[in-house]
Amino acid sequence: MENFEIKSFRLSNKNNISIEFLNLGGIITLIKTPDKNNQFSDIVLGFEDFEKYHNNSAYFGAIIGRYANRIESGKFKIDGNEYHLKTNNGLNHLHGGHKGFDKVFWQISPVKGKNAYLLYYMSPDGEEGYPGNLEVKVTYELTDDNNFKILFEAVSDKKTIINLSQHSYFNLSGNFSNTVLDHLLKINSKFYLPVDKNQIPTGVIENIKNTPFDFEKFKFIGLDIEEDNLQLKIGKGYDHCYVIKNDERKLVKAASLYHPPSSRLLEVYTDQPGIQFYSGNFLDNSLPSKTGGNYRKWSGLCLETQHFPNSPNNDKFPLTILRPGEKFYSETWYKFSVIEDIIDD
Ligand code: BGC
Repeated sequence: MENFEIKSFRLSNKNNISIEFLNLGGIITLIKTPDKNNQFSDIVLGFEDFEKYHNNSAYFGAIIGRYANRIESGKFKIDGNEYHLKTNNGLNHLHGGHKGFDKVFWQISPVKGKNAYLLYYMSPDGEEGYPGNLEVKVTYELTDDNNFKILFEAVSDKKTIINLSQHSYFNLSGNFSNTVLDHLLKINSKFYLPVDKNQIPTGVIENIKNTPFDFEKFKFIGLDIEEDNLQLKIGKGYDHCYVIKNDERKLVKAASLYHPPSSRLLEVYTDQPGIQFYSGNFLDNSLPSKTGGNYRKWSGLCLETQHFPNSPNNDKFPLTILRPGEKFYSETWYKFSVIEDIIDD
């Protein structure tokens, strides 16, 4: 057991939107936003009892690292040296291993002049098998225009790999006994990465046209999720990385999620090459919901901005190498609003 105490922190803005998070895993435990009647509800899955986050098998709300998503057999090479990571997902390494960034304690300090907190963690050389002492900073900022900005920064003293993400599960209805099948989703992408039976990308970059993966225009998540499709069977729903076109690594809108009954809209911006759309397929009635009952399949969904899964073993995918002297820098924005109706732009 860590000799640390779980502490909770809070950000709020002039519109009364509030976000709460823990020093454990940087876990976001609550995001309260208004609906069309100005009723505020919590729109992220999590636990009422913070102690439950120690065994947070679903990664609710957490910072994910050092490498978000899967690395095949937990192995990769840098300059001919093979590294062996902890495997925690069948044969694969997932979300940083047994004790990833979601399970460590972060040092938290307020950021001067901003409505923000800085989260700091020093990951020692060899942790979970990764090379290099890695210093990581994550900033959580909530602006008055209802933008939750997440800034990831990292430096290493050895050549290493990195892929940082945020694993909040959204349910814009604010009622966790509902599923997200009635949410409309739009992903700014024409391509996704099909996976093998162990959920490792095959390397094919597939066009979404005429497949259930087409979210180029707003589409109900429930519309095709149960189609007879091999990829949907493997993931038990959507659990795939979409290719985001931002070659210059500029911040672009990657996805929009809309819940018609409440009129809540969530827009996700990223400078990363991918976004994993995970429709909460492995929630299996075993984890207690904040509002009573248990979370079930499709109770919430993640839109995880990131590099492609298993990139260290695929030289066609954008590089995830971080060298000493370089700085990893990435931004993700979650923007909250209420709109009467969605317009496909
Ligand atoms: C992955 C899923 C995994 C889940 C664990 C997601 O990011 O894509 O495959 O089961 O995290 O919560």
